[in-house]
Amino acid sequence: MFKLLVFCALFMVMGIGHGFNHGQNLKDFDDFTILYNKLYANTSVRTFANYNFINNRNHIAQHNAQEERKHSTYREAVNQFSDLSLHQIINLFPKAQYTVPAQNSTPTATTEPTDTDFDIITGMGLTIDVEDQGTHCSSSWAYAAAKAIEIMNGIQTAESTPEPLSAQELIDCAGMGTGCTTQNPQTAFDFLKLTGLATAADYPNNNGLATQGVCVTDQILTGIKLEAYSTIKDGDDIALKRFVFNNIPVIVEYNPDTFGFMEYSSGVYVPPKKTKAIGSQFLVVVGYGHDADLDLDYWRCLNSFGTTWGENGYIRIIRSAKYPLAKNAIFPNTL
Ligand SMILES: *[C@@H]1O[C@H](CO)[C@@H](O)[C@H](O)[C@H]1NC(C)=O
Repeated sequence: MFKLLVFCALFMVMGIGHGFNHGQNLKDFDDFTILYNKLYANTSVRTFANYNFINNRNHIAQHNAQEERKHSTYREAVNQFSDLSLHQIINLFPKAQYTVPAQNSTPTATTEPTDTDFDIITGMGLTIDVEDQGTHCSSSWAYAAAKAIEIMNGIQTAESTPEPLSAQELIDCAGMGTGCTTQNPQTAFDFLKLTGLATAADYPNNNGLATQGVCVTDQILTGIKLEAYSTIKDGDDIALKRFVFNNIPVIVEYNPDTFGFMEYSSGVYVPPKKTKAIGSQFLVVVGYGHDADLDLDYWRCLNSFGTTWGENGYIRIIRSAKYPLAKNAIFPNTL
């Protein structure tokens, strides 16, 4: 009799516990969908997103517990990508394709870098907006190109708050049909040798679109033109450091196909030992330094996932010969 009572009580507690957790998970998912303006095509898509959200959130909690035990050098957090499976992430960020050879030019003269922490944005006293490319279009090639030119323009015109430039113009007018899939920053720079880049005020960004829009031609005749751009050999992080030290924002192609990158929230990101580069995200390298707590050298890169991603929109990535960052690296040379 006593045994049976205990059994019943246990069962009830478990039942209630389970019911409560389930309800809380649903509420958390509802809150998530509101916070990130998520719209799902139908109930099955929503159910799958809910399933991913719960899974990813558990994964994030486990990862952060590892970080607290010093088994990882970075933290993760729920963000706009937390309702996606890794398979969906890989589909959303396909690998960039290069169909035209680069019109590479000799870069401007540079001086040798120092080893102390360096950052173009803070060093030059610039205020640079962090953009949000959304979760529908793989447009980092355009956002990174616009941002690199914006930073260079701020420096060259001694304007500490340069006007944000239009990534949308590049997506719509230079995208060549792959503006939301496999396009690359070199295409943007080739386009800007002929056509000016409008401000984002004149040609607004629209991160809700899943495909490139129609080019609004009356906005593209004025704006900032690019005279020349240069590239860096893959793996040449010594050159990368030298150019960054000379206040040149360099775009690199990065491989986003890990939860760690997508859910990164702070610290120094170290990719898993074996990652296959099956996707592309373009980052603007703006600095480098040494994290004394972690005893790790890092690169500081500006992403286009909004300010709630990473360290206010930036990511610090391990800087080491084992993990070279220079990949399809390209930078505006002269405006
Ligand atoms: C729900 O929407 C997805 C994506 O648009 C589609 O592939 C799927 O067939 C739809 N399912 C149902 C049950 O309507």
